[in-house]
Amino acid sequence: MDKEYMIKQTENWVKEQLEGEGTGHDWHHIQRVTKQAQEIAAIEGADTFIVSLAALLHDLIDDKVVESEAEGIKHVTKWLETIGTSKEQEEHILAIITTMSFKGGNNKPVETLEAKVVQDADRLDAIGAIGIARTFIYAGSKGDPMYDPTIAVREQLTFEEYRNGRSSAIGHFYEKLLKLKDLMNTGEGMKRATARHLFLNNFLEQFHKEWEG
Ligand code: ADP
Ligand code: NI
Repeated sequence: MDKEYMIKQTENWVKEQLEGEGTGHDWHHIQRVTKQAQEIAAIEGADTFIVSLAALLHDLIDDKVVESEAEGIKHVTKWLETIGTSKEQEEHILAIITTMSFKGGNNKPVETLEAKVVQDADRLDAIGAIGIARTFIYAGSKGDPMYDPTIAVREQLTFEEYRNGRSSAIGHFYEKLLKLKDLMNTGEGMKRATARHLFLNNFLEQFHKEWEG
């Protein structure tokens, strides 16, 4: 299989996986992340084959989609063997998708340029207008309020409240979204994040203004 074809096949496979799991909406996230990642890869000089596959596969080891991360890794490895990536490519792609998730910032930093690009693209989708929309959808699905001034900032919660997962959509801006810009790995990622970060701040300013009346 040539590389274009391997990417195309993977696209179809990932789409099927996500639809099968009843999380069809997330396919659009994957599409957006893959497109951003490919664009950034071209500008930063990263290997677009590795970047494309890692971006397409990056959420398939998440326990929202599969039973466990270990299961997910097995599943993805099998797929890479099916399309015939080399051992080296397979290891690189798996290393990217296992190390890139944010998880409170405690994960070890991603290492290769390709990993940096995919992580930047995933983070970009969490900020800007799309990021705002995703945050409110997520909060709504958990039954969290859009805003509660008393739980707006997670750092100010008591440990018990934190353990109980009290949060709000606006709270998520402070605990994660506003931190992402400074965590960008690449110059192009930073450039794109800066515009989206500004949009977050403008949104928050307007939100608080309207809330206070
Ligand atoms: P990804 O898999 O793309 O890294 P997640 O699955 O962690 O993203 O989250 C999906 C979306 O929901 C993201 O836009 C994220 O910022 C948002 N989100 C995650 N946790 C919360 C939360 N506690 N409240 C509101 N939004 C959240
Ligand atoms: Ni993602």
